[in-house]
Amino acid sequence: MALVEIQNLHKSFGSNHVLRGIDFTVEEGEVVCVIGPSGSGKSTLLRCVNLLEVPQQGQVFVRGEDITDRDCHLDAARQQIGMVFQQFNLFPHLSVLDNCTVAQTTVLKRSKAAAEQIARDTLDRVGLSDKVSAYPMQLSGGQQQRVAIARALSMDPALMLFDEPTSALDPELVGDVLTVMRKLALDGMTMLVVTHEMAFAREVADRVVFMDAGVIVEQGPPAEVIGNPKEERTRTFLRRVLDPTHVEPTP
Ligand SMILES: Nc1ncnc2c1ncn2[C@@H]1O[C@H](COP(=O)(O)OP(=O)(O)O)[C@@H](O)[C@H]1O
Ligand SMILES: [Mg+2]
Repeated sequence: MALVEIQNLHKSFGSNHVLRGIDFTVEEGEVVCVIGPSGSGKSTLLRCVNLLEVPQQGQVFVRGEDITDRDCHLDAARQQIGMVFQQFNLFPHLSVLDNCTVAQTTVLKRSKAAAEQIARDTLDRVGLSDKVSAYPMQLSGGQQQRVAIARALSMDPALMLFDEPTSALDPELVGDVLTVMRKLALDGMTMLVVTHEMAFAREVADRVVFMDAGVIVEQGPPAEVIGNPKEERTRTFLRRVLDPTHVEPTP
């Protein structure tokens, strides 16, 4: 059984038909990178996986359970899914350690001592054991993003969603975050990653999905989709992102 299975997913915002019939699975242990132009619906797709956005049509199954069903225990399904955003969304008034324990004690009802032990372990995994007492403002963007990853991992997720986790970072801080993500992938974590880091996608992804205008245009192993794309739309997109002299217009 797939960890996530999406069938004929449609999502509109008003008259803006953003997702136009997405069929898509993520297998246990798989690393899937989603690429595509800005506005193509990548974030919306990710947000539908844990029902942060409610689709108008279609189903989302998490380990076989239809989470779009009204009778589904959505909180339980969501607990299996960790999410890391472009903006780190840490609590500024809480220490790094407390950022990583608060959901454990409130949502999972773990004891403070158990939660702290787990938080220390996950902070160690992302290379931040020496920052447990720091506050987010005292950290670099890359360190804050690694705290956000540790916070998600502290909840023992079956799946990690990443939405452009390195896009807000200064270039020299991107590598540390990608290193942590690469390690997670090697440890067998199931990951769905929206990214513009083509080198990362090529190296780490089991499968790359190219989206444009609310549909999946093509998907397959990175060597095919990035290395030898079949579709003209994919080739056009890759030319733009891989051309270092190309500057994205500001929206
Ligand atoms: N909460 C929202 N309300 C209205 N429109 C939205 C909302 N979220 C996304 N959109 C629109 O949906 C389209 C796809 O957005 P998004 O999924 O963020 O694309 P991507 O992540 O690929 O850049 C865009 O036109 C965007 O303006
Ligand atoms: Mg997005």
